[in-house]
Amino acid sequence: MVRHMNKTRARVLDAFRRRFGGEPAWLVRAPGRVNLLGAHIDYSEGWVLPGAIDRSIWLALRPAEAPSSTIEALDRRAEGAHLADITGVSDIVDIATLDTARLPPPVPERGGEADGTWQDLPRGVAWTLARAGHHLAPIDAVFGGDLPMDAGVSSSAAVEVAFLMAWEAASGFSLDGVERARLGRRVENDYLGVGSGIMDQFASIHGKTGHLMLLDCRDLAFERIPLPDNVAVVIADSGIRRTLASSDYNRRPEECRQAVDLLRRALPEIRTLRDVTEEDLDRHARVMLPSSLERRARHAVCECRRVLDGAEALRNGSLRRFGELMRESHESSRDLYQVSLPELDALASTAWSAPGCFGARLSGAGWGGCVTALVEEAAAEDVERRLRREFARAFGHECETFVAAFGDGAAIVDIGDSVDIADI
Ligand code: GLA
Repeated sequence: MVRHMNKTRARVLDAFRRRFGGEPAWLVRAPGRVNLLGAHIDYSEGWVLPGAIDRSIWLALRPAEAPSSTIEALDRRAEGAHLADITGVSDIVDIATLDTARLPPPVPERGGEADGTWQDLPRGVAWTLARAGHHLAPIDAVFGGDLPMDAGVSSSAAVEVAFLMAWEAASGFSLDGVERARLGRRVENDYLGVGSGIMDQFASIHGKTGHLMLLDCRDLAFERIPLPDNVAVVIADSGIRRTLASSDYNRRPEECRQAVDLLRRALPEIRTLRDVTEEDLDRHARVMLPSSLERRARHAVCECRRVLDGAEALRNGSLRRFGELMRESHESSRDLYQVSLPELDALASTAWSAPGCFGARLSGAGWGGCVTALVEEAAAEDVERRLRREFARAFGHECETFVAAFGDGAAIVDIGDSVDIADI
């Protein structure tokens, strides 16, 4: 009997056998994520409410005989492309030549595409692991996925987590989940020069079917919160791509730090915006902060409260309240944190008025990518259709949509039976 096999998984295994002539030793699956509440507060050590989704990066590998690693990407970053669109690019990572003594030059100065290429992700993982003192074995690897790239559903974090696990397996050491997430963040912060927080890698590693996680980004304690069975997530992709390196992303953590520095004159005990209350802001912000920093600070402070209220609403089974908080989060991301675009605002407001939709907000960093809507499962297809229709009406072309469920975190999985992908 041929058992059901995920199409991407079969495609990756098939490509591995063609490329390297034989079986992989391991197959790693690392999922993307959506974050239902908690926009841009992970790097301010606030709380977030993400969950891993059932769309993933798959990575087949075995130890290499050659001294360097050969890595083939079936799908790579490209303007507006879905991962499944492009095939057959390969790269060689020579671990011995990675200079781990110094931080690498910023991505735009490395001579590649301005925003970096997919090769930066495995190279960055190898560099980060080596810099943390791990001895790496070279690998032969093929990876691909069914996640839209650079679209706010954490494709980069999923690639990083998959390669971290791949080199752990091949090199004979194992990291715990928190350490793995920390190293994934280091790839972004140190190798790619992006000042992001830890949420994406953490969610890809710690996801659980049917659950969100309330994560405290200061001490990394987390609580899994179940969602009712009859809800789904509709993801609508605006098709607009801005990588974090090319967007204003890095300016936001910097602005948050500036706001904290200024507020410290009145509130010496605060470390990040997570430590500031709404009353503190009412009392001090207007006199101590320029208006743009006041807006950033107000978003961060209120978003922390929204996440904690949202977790409480979920525990009480109040999806309606949760959906209102998602809407407030989008409005605050648009007006105060200023990370939205007209396309994302249009998708969000179409979702807000769709029957069966509890709430919707932009996904990930913003400035493009996807909007995530929490919906009644039975209404998901209607919501998708409405989003595509209204988007086409406003912008002259349809957007892509898909329905996702919350799934398990990254794992090394059984390679299983071989299935010819032509049969799927
Ligand atoms: C990106 C970053 C995360 C987080 C979100 C915004 O996904 O990688 O660390 O800051 O943006 O919430």
